[in-house]
Amino acid sequence: MTKNWTPDSWRSKPVLHVPKFPDNAALEAIEGRIASYPPLVFAGEARQLKEQLARVSKGEAFLLQGGDCAESFAEHSADNIRDFFRVFLQMAAVLTYAAARPVVKVGRIAGQFAKPRSSDIEKQGDIELPSYRGDIINGIDFTEKERVPDPSRQAMAYRQSAATLNLLRAFAQGGFANMDHVHQWTLGYLKDSPQAGRYQELADRISESMAFMRACGIDPETTPQMRTTDFFTSHEALLLGYEEALTRVDSTSGEWYATSGHMLWIGDRTRQIDHGHVEFFRGIQNPIGMKCGPSLEPDDLLRLCDVLNPENEPGRLTLIARFGADKVFDHLPALVRAIKSEGRHVVWSCDPMHGNVIKASNGYKTRPFDRILKEVEAFFAVHQAEGTHAGGIHIEMTGRNVTECTGGSREISENDLSARYHTHCDPRLNADQALELAFLIAENLKKDRDNKYTST
Ligand code: PEP
Ligand code: CO
Repeated sequence: MTKNWTPDSWRSKPVLHVPKFPDNAALEAIEGRIASYPPLVFAGEARQLKEQLARVSKGEAFLLQGGDCAESFAEHSADNIRDFFRVFLQMAAVLTYAAARPVVKVGRIAGQFAKPRSSDIEKQGDIELPSYRGDIINGIDFTEKERVPDPSRQAMAYRQSAATLNLLRAFAQGGFANMDHVHQWTLGYLKDSPQAGRYQELADRISESMAFMRACGIDPETTPQMRTTDFFTSHEALLLGYEEALTRVDSTSGEWYATSGHMLWIGDRTRQIDHGHVEFFRGIQNPIGMKCGPSLEPDDLLRLCDVLNPENEPGRLTLIARFGADKVFDHLPALVRAIKSEGRHVVWSCDPMHGNVIKASNGYKTRPFDRILKEVEAFFAVHQAEGTHAGGIHIEMTGRNVTECTGGSREISENDLSARYHTHCDPRLNADQALELAFLIAENLKKDRDNKYTST
């Protein structure tokens, strides 16, 4: 058990990016109610994910983490979840084939509801209202009623997470992820895209290998790994009262686990070592992530590792680098060297989204696809130069055919953004762009693999 820690010990520390709720009694009542609800995930599953991430930290597997910037109550449909899962499986197939290594699949889903915001206030014309902070806190419509933080939303977020998780478990275990269906994961609207052609070729090769293995007596009927997949959930654990209510003692190990998702991460704006978020995270035994942006110095990173992973346990801590395409070489090498020279076991993952937001000339918040690719390339180049493992990728994406990030093979322009701009927060890659990114990463992973073979 972590020393001097309880699920509520964060309450005595400063906490950023969590709003003041106007009605404290209502907040306490909801937290009490959620504390009586069943856990959403089991500690044993979180431990399995930690083991898989330990393999990633050793370069034996690759982490694919992605999903919405913010899930929304309004867009909770089976179709959205299924379409996300299909693209995710396609990306995983592309990466697994190229890397010839397992891909650890972690969705930003079934709990990704709370958002840090750069300003507490949003102004439209002469009217000022509290900023939107995610559906678990307030509503996106620009009205006073919607924007006042409402604790009852936490119960809704819990129930939506449970329903989403239920469907994802069914997809992952019930046959949808069967490798025999590798051709069927392509979404209808992708059929005429260049990505679809590339994917079709790869799926043909996978099918051929499957036919060969079937002839050798190995097939999805006899080998569960070929008909099911492990899929894990994750979110930024920003709203600590909600997280505390779902933090439970695991009866097998006697340790505390957050049960709102398998993996939780600390955002770039809430990783102060003496603040409430780091305090909460140090006591839960789940695998955890921490975003690393340009303001993080190597010494501070090492001190945070001391607090968050004192036993230096492989798989416990994933460092998610998010610097911006032009800043990777200024910041990442020093952090990677500090971690390496101190012998810390971490997963290095790349978030090429959050450092590459720009405002288009028509006012839309967007991310140019070429900058996203550039950040990923730089991330791989740094790890190649430092002799460390580029362990994973963390992206904001959707299975919907949105126009939120510019560029990609369909050349979405700034003028196209208004056509299907649906995100509740940051711009996401659409299925086409997500798949294109997977192919680029696959090339890098293949290079890594070829280097490994030629250097041994
Ligand atoms: C996010 O992942 O949605 C996010 C807010 O990221 P960051 O903490 O890196 O800014
Ligand atoms: Co975001």
